[in-house]
Amino acid sequence: MELALKDKIVIVTGGAAGIGRATVDRFRAEGAIAIPWDISGAPPPSAAVDVTKRESVERAVEDVVRQYGRIDVLVNNAGILRDAQLVKWKDGAVASAMDDATFDAVINVNLRGVFIVTRAVVPHMIKARRGVILNASSVVGLYGNFGQTNYAATKAGIISFTKTWSRELGKFGIRVNAVAPGFIATEMVKAMPKNILDSMVSHTPLGSLGDPDDIANAYVWLASDAAKFVTGAVLSVDGGVVVGT
Ligand code: NAI
Repeated sequence: MELALKDKIVIVTGGAAGIGRATVDRFRAEGAIAIPWDISGAPPPSAAVDVTKRESVERAVEDVVRQYGRIDVLVNNAGILRDAQLVKWKDGAVASAMDDATFDAVINVNLRGVFIVTRAVVPHMIKARRGVILNASSVVGLYGNFGQTNYAATKAGIISFTKTWSRELGKFGIRVNAVAPGFIATEMVKAMPKNILDSMVSHTPLGSLGDPDDIANAYVWLASDAAKFVTGAVLSVDGGVVVGT
């Protein structure tokens, strides 16, 4: 299968760590020019870009277009977690609740950040009459998850972005798809208590956590011409997990 990604200009938000880092490496292995944007140190060529800051994002988009002339692929991968139960009830009273700052922080990065970056990139793709936008959803966006009111809502929102933008942008030759990872063995996940890791594995028919490369491979395929008739899709890459069983 010919992926034909050589010399493609690919932006990966949150490209310094975890799935984003693996995605940068995987695109580079195909000969693409993958540019990580992150708030922490990323492998070069990279830029310090906070996806929630409109001016910094717009400047970074202009820098890429000035240097390379175009943006072929955008991977909206940056995302954060701030877990808490909506309301924790103990001994007949509210023991704690998700506070406003915790809710807003996750909405700001995972939803507003994807909106800000995509809005800045899309005019360049429209001018070129081609482009691929790939969004990081999650199994929890499909099934919900205990303790993740904020995060699960953003990952469901990402699916709405994907479907809406695929309708709006198809006529310009721009494809928009989402990947919904299951439990992936990033540093953060590997640091979780053993009983939680065991429970994740027990809910996964394939019987293991996924690797960051499993997600990176999905992004690379969706970005390539091998997926040229795929848009508005949500590709689950999750070992068959069914949350809550
Ligand atoms: P991670 O925490 O290892 O890496 C996320 C990267 O995003 C970090 O380098 C971080 O500095 C960067 N980042 C955070 N806020 C940012 C901002 N405002 N601007 C720019 N960069 C920012 O995360 P991981 O696990 O690699 O996840 C990547 C994506 O995949 C996220 O959207 C996550 O929600 C999603 N996902 C991950 C799963 C997993 O099991 N690891 C499962 C399902 C979805």
